[in-house]
Amino acid sequence: MLKGKFVVLGVTGSIAAYKAVELVRLLKKAGCEVQVIMTKSGCEFVKPLTFQVVSQNPVIIDMFKEPSRWEVEHVALADKADVFLVAPATANIIAKMAAGIADDMLTSTLLATKAKIIVVPAMNVNMYENPITQRNIAALKALGITVLDPEEGDLACGYSGKGRFPEPTDIVEHIKVILGKDGDLKDKRFLITAGPTREPIDPVRFITNHSSGKMGYALAEKAVQRGARVTLISGPTNLTPPLGLERFIRVDTAEEMYSAVMKHYADVDVVIKSAAVADYAPKNIKGEKIKKQDSNMTLELKKNPDILQELGNKKSNQVLIGFAAETNNTIVNAQDKLKRKNLDFIVLNDLTEAGAGFAKDTNIVTILHSDGRIEKLPKMLKRDLADEILNRVLLYLQNRMS
Ligand code: CTP
Repeated sequence: MLKGKFVVLGVTGSIAAYKAVELVRLLKKAGCEVQVIMTKSGCEFVKPLTFQVVSQNPVIIDMFKEPSRWEVEHVALADKADVFLVAPATANIIAKMAAGIADDMLTSTLLATKAKIIVVPAMNVNMYENPITQRNIAALKALGITVLDPEEGDLACGYSGKGRFPEPTDIVEHIKVILGKDGDLKDKRFLITAGPTREPIDPVRFITNHSSGKMGYALAEKAVQRGARVTLISGPTNLTPPLGLERFIRVDTAEEMYSAVMKHYADVDVVIKSAAVADYAPKNIKGEKIKKQDSNMTLELKKNPDILQELGNKKSNQVLIGFAAETNNTIVNAQDKLKRKNLDFIVLNDLTEAGAGFAKDTNIVTILHSDGRIEKLPKMLKRDLADEILNRVLLYLQNRMS
């Protein structure tokens, strides 16, 4: 999604300037055109030549230097930018931006741009926490400028605290979210469930399944990056929730997932139920650890609510998507779930196929639609599959509106 985007990167006088080199490398790898502007103090930390080599563009520093064959005039640059990053941003540049000062190439271009601006502060913790800096950051945010939170940790100045430059990979993710705000799913409200559920037996044991949550998290991430407002309800996973979610709700049991889904489903346009919900839970949860006996033991299970079935029963104008993980009679079983749960389409995982199913990064699925169409998709990354699923959701949303 970053391919072909024009990124202007302002580098100011912070020791973290060297980390911006990696940021440029990542942006170039993602297919962006990158134009670096450095302040004079930025050049004290990293030589412009370094940025010139990684960005494959001459670095601009001086406002009044004769432009070369590249379009370096500040208004032209300001117009061309899809996104304007200031990374690292010192307390000084933040103060100048908040005051509207334009006294060098970077500040003049910033003032002239209509592009989305992202500021990545990196400075001494006391400078960052100074009420003047905090006031300036608040002023930028109030104007719609994104200011990322610095990370906590040891700082180059010898102090420890908030002020570190975030990981360049995280900054790239922020750019995707911000650029995606006008995407094809702009303002569509999604409820996505992910991961397994965990049904306690006693204080130390539970019943669960192999779901990793990767598919649901990939769907949430991609939907956000296409402009959707996403509520992600997740069972226990090892994954970090994607950036830019409207809401993240962490649950354990099927009952908890049921309550969270029921609380939010009425406000959404699309529900995607990729969670692997346990169909049964122990009937009596023991308050103390069950001790080993000489004989076998029997665990009595009670039926959990079928969340998707209930949504299907209540469905009005929403787009409703289910998942089916099957090991036999795959198409017949999935067709049955599609009809029974009143879905628009169901994504069928054949768990016997290599490269499909739980905990992997790839998946092989068949999509069965309510109108009878069956699409077999090739093996692909779960993140690419997420986009394929969202493309189909978009068609259903468009049909609903026409
Ligand atoms: N599902 C749900 N609540 C449940 C069980 C399943 O919402 N208690 C949803 C899943 O999130 C998935 C779809 O229903 O989108 C199908 O789940 P699956 O476990 O394959 O189907 P079941 O209806 O439970 O049928 P079975 O276990 O007999 O295959």
